[in-house]
Amino acid sequence: MPTTLMARPDLHDRIQAQRKLRDAQGRIRVRRTVTRRDGVRLEIDGQWLTGFCSNDYLGLSQQFGVVSALQDAAAREGAGATASHLVCGHHALHDALEREMAEWLGYPRALLFGSGFAANLAVQQALLSEEDDVCVQDRLNHASLLDATRLAGCRLRRYPHLDAEGAMRQLKHAPEGAAMLATDGVFSMDGDLAPLRSLSLVARMQGAMLYVDDAHGVGVIGQHGRGCVAEAGLGVDDVPLQLATFGKALGGSGAVVLGDEAMIQHLAETARPYIYTTAVPPAQAAATLAAVKLARRDDWRREKLAELVGVFRAGARQHGLDLMASDTPIQPLLCGAEATVMAMSAALETSGFLVTAIRPPTVPEGKARLRVTLSALHTPAQVRALIDAIAHARDSVLHQQALSA
Ligand SMILES: Cc1ncc(COP(=O)(O)O)c(C=O)c1O
Repeated sequence: MPTTLMARPDLHDRIQAQRKLRDAQGRIRVRRTVTRRDGVRLEIDGQWLTGFCSNDYLGLSQQFGVVSALQDAAAREGAGATASHLVCGHHALHDALEREMAEWLGYPRALLFGSGFAANLAVQQALLSEEDDVCVQDRLNHASLLDATRLAGCRLRRYPHLDAEGAMRQLKHAPEGAAMLATDGVFSMDGDLAPLRSLSLVARMQGAMLYVDDAHGVGVIGQHGRGCVAEAGLGVDDVPLQLATFGKALGGSGAVVLGDEAMIQHLAETARPYIYTTAVPPAQAAATLAAVKLARRDDWRREKLAELVGVFRAGARQHGLDLMASDTPIQPLLCGAEATVMAMSAALETSGFLVTAIRPPTVPEGKARLRVTLSALHTPAQVRALIDAIAHARDSVLHQQALSA
């Protein structure tokens, strides 16, 4: 038996030091608790606010048909799936949702996951299993794509945002193992679109598999909301795997990975984040199925969004706000310093609007922003009122900063 105690770093000390550092950097994260929700309105701390930061782009999360599909299925099938898919948790409602998604997006098959994060981990873990395999990624890809490469244990190479030539260079100089080229379809913090046609050419020339995470594109982009891949005129031959998530435009939660029969079967049999987890509740699948049918049918929701994007951008330009190059419902306004974006977000809340501040490490240093997002449920008048409030908040924050300089 050892007689001395091993001197290891104390984890309590470590987290205290890290907390102190975050505090000094003004980066303490706070959760806001929503007590009630009614369309785009939310009650927080007893105050009703107009929300401009959810991802409920099509306004489906509280849609009557979606909610009653959830209620009906829960009444019949219960609250949970009771097991993982490969044990006895796989339900006919999961099957129906997978088939609907595959048909909508023009892929042979789809596989349902509990979240987009888990699905991204699954794809790379199941495919990039050798040490000299490589995943080449846009520098601004979602955190789950980057973490997936770490989990898979293969090499990670990143290229400058939207730079297909940069992707080509990285692939050319990568080790000779299998390669994946992974990109967001719509970038979650910037709202711009990946150059998918160029990336598909690069992937083809370099023998890499193109993987598109279209979490923010499906339901919103292109004809009948079929997303960035279909809008670029691409399909399963060019983009052998793509991700669609349900927590954004489809108003629910979960995700599917789409691919051909062999690829999807391989994921179902080998991807640990698929195998070792409880299946999503069948009632949730029923709700998402109802949401998908509405998203496919209701072009008016996308037309309304396009109109609101126009109203927002015209108003922002009039007030000299720092718009980014985005035509999607993600309309971030760059504020630069973290203190500025925090002060602006607080000022907006006082005026009755919820727009959360997005700061590093979610976005690069010096690129803090108000991530304004639009929903088909907003009215043009609400958007105009938001713009006025933002301009007012900017003026008063700049004034305060000048006084205290
Ligand atoms: C681009 C992107 N991919 C994946 C995810 C993860 O999806 P989920 O929220 O379903 O885990 C998100 C959002 O959080 C995202 O923005």
